[in-house]
Amino acid sequence: MTIKIKNLTKKYKDFVAVNNVSFDIKNNETFSLLGINGAGKTTLIKMLTGLTKKTNGEVFYDELNMDTNLNEIKQIINISPQENAVAESLTVKENIMFIAKIYGFSKEKSLKNTENIINLLNLQEFENKKAKILSGGMQRRLSLAMSLVTEPKVLFLDEPTLGLDVLAREQLWDLIKKLKRKMTIILTTHYMEEAEKLSNRIAIIHNGKIIKIDTPSSLIKSTKTKSLEQAFVKIIKGEKI
Ligand SMILES: Nc1ncnc2c1ncn2[C@@H]1O[C@H](COP(=O)(O)OP(=O)(O)OP(=O)(O)O)[C@@H](O)[C@H]1O
Ligand SMILES: [Mg+2]
Repeated sequence: MTIKIKNLTKKYKDFVAVNNVSFDIKNNETFSLLGINGAGKTTLIKMLTGLTKKTNGEVFYDELNMDTNLNEIKQIINISPQENAVAESLTVKENIMFIAKIYGFSKEKSLKNTENIINLLNLQEFENKKAKILSGGMQRRLSLAMSLVTEPKVLFLDEPTLGLDVLAREQLWDLIKKLKRKMTIILTTHYMEEAEKLSNRIAIIHNGKIIKIDTPSSLIKSTKTKSLEQAFVKIIKGEKI
C-alpha cells in the first residue's frame, strides 16, 4: 500500500510541530523517519494513524482519503507507539487477543493469530504473565506483537527498539527484515545503524520539515561521509553537501 502525504501540517496553538510536509511512501518499502528529539516524527506518525488531528493537508492510502475513509484505513494499518499502550492488568496473551478482537477478527482467528505472533516474537514464557510485571524491553516486544496481530498492510513503528538489550534488538531487526516487502513499514529510530540496516529510504525531519529523502547509501555518498550517522549530523547541521 502506498501513502501520499500532501502539505501536512500540525500546529499546537502557535507552535508548528509538522510544517507543510509532502512526500510519498512506496508500496511495501521500509521507510525511516530520522530526526533529533522534538523534530516532529511522532507527531507526523500520529497524524498518519489518525491518533491526532491534522491542522492542514491531505493523506491518501492508495486511493483512500483519510478525511473520508478513516475507518477503512484504520482496519489495514497498525502502530506500535512510542509510549507503550499495553493494558497492565491483562496478560500478554490477553493484550494481543484484545487488539485482534477490536479489529473485528473472529474468536478463532484472533486466537490463531495471537498464538502465531507469540511464537514469532518468542513471548511463550510470558504469555500468561500480567503486562505490568514485564520489563520495559519486554513491554516493547508486547507492543510490537499487538501491532502485528492484525496483519496490517501498513505498520508504524515509533522507536521499536528503544530500551531493548543488544540481543533483543538484533532479534527485532531480524523480524523486521522478515516483514520487509510484505507490508509498508514506517519506522522511527535514534539508532543510525538500525535505520541503515533496515530502510529502503530515509526521510530526515528537522523543525517539522522534511529536509532530505534518499536511500541510506545515497545519503552517505552525497555527503561524502562514511556512515549514516556522519551523514545525518552533516545534513542536520546544514553543512554544505
Ligand atoms: N500535545 C502537544 N502539545 C504541544 N506540543 C506538542 C504536543 N505534542 C508534541 N508537541 C511538540 O511538538 C514537537 C514535536 O514533537 P514530537 O513528539 O513529534 O517529536 P519527535 O520527533 O517524536 O521527538 P523524539 O525523538 O523525542 O520522540 C516538540 O517540540 C513537542 O514538544
Ligand atoms: Mg517521538
